[in-house]
Amino acid sequence: MQMRLDKFLSDSMEITRQEAKKLLSKGLVFVDGTVAKKGDIKVKDETDVTVNGKKIEYKEFVYIMLNKPKGVVSATEDANDTTVTDLVRKDYPKRNLFPAGRLDKTSTGFVLLTDDGVFAHDILAPKKHVSKEYIVTLDAPVDDEIIEHFNSGVTLADGTLLKSAQLKPTENPLVVKVVLKQGVYHQIKRMFGVFGIGVNELHRTHIGTVELDKTLAEGAYRELTQQEMEKIYSQSGAN
Ligand code: URA
Repeated sequence: MQMRLDKFLSDSMEITRQEAKKLLSKGLVFVDGTVAKKGDIKVKDETDVTVNGKKIEYKEFVYIMLNKPKGVVSATEDANDTTVTDLVRKDYPKRNLFPAGRLDKTSTGFVLLTDDGVFAHDILAPKKHVSKEYIVTLDAPVDDEIIEHFNSGVTLADGTLLKSAQLKPTENPLVVKVVLKQGVYHQIKRMFGVFGIGVNELHRTHIGTVELDKTLAEGAYRELTQQEMEKIYSQSGAN
């Protein structure tokens, strides 16, 4: 992709075009080893650009792994509550980030934030089969019959027939793992509700085969690595 050098700098460094122009006029920007002073020079995403001696990788889009705390809503704006985008905005002031998939206000765990609409569509589309895994704390234990129902497809109270889902017991009878390949509103709570079981805690641990980084405290975030992106792409068939 070809673009102006000032755009390359502002997209990749989260700075304004004006700030990019200042770096250029100070002689701090080098393109292929030669000082560049004008913002309208054409560069490509793979062009060798350095600022103050540091190589700048072009970033068209960003992909962020956030450990959502309770009480935060999966939206871009909200009149009353803190949103997942509020939590990351200070580091990405110029990006139109949004959550690719929602967690309820009371749920915690892995939310992926991006400004790449095509990618978000791909990981959410039921046809693409990107799974989501949750650890769920229940108010009553499950039995083999419920596990089998999850496997063959639960019918919700409103008649919606869901796709097959995995329900895996753990050593604690009130804690289970659930793997879904679709995202219906309040899906897990409604699935257990069919069997008269309440959900006390819901934590998303995986998107596809990528696990939420255990070193991220609640509210903390980091960008996904190239390797993690490839894992998600390989499951979604995107790219
Ligand atoms: N299912 C739910 O009920 N809530 C979530 O937050 C995610 C899945």
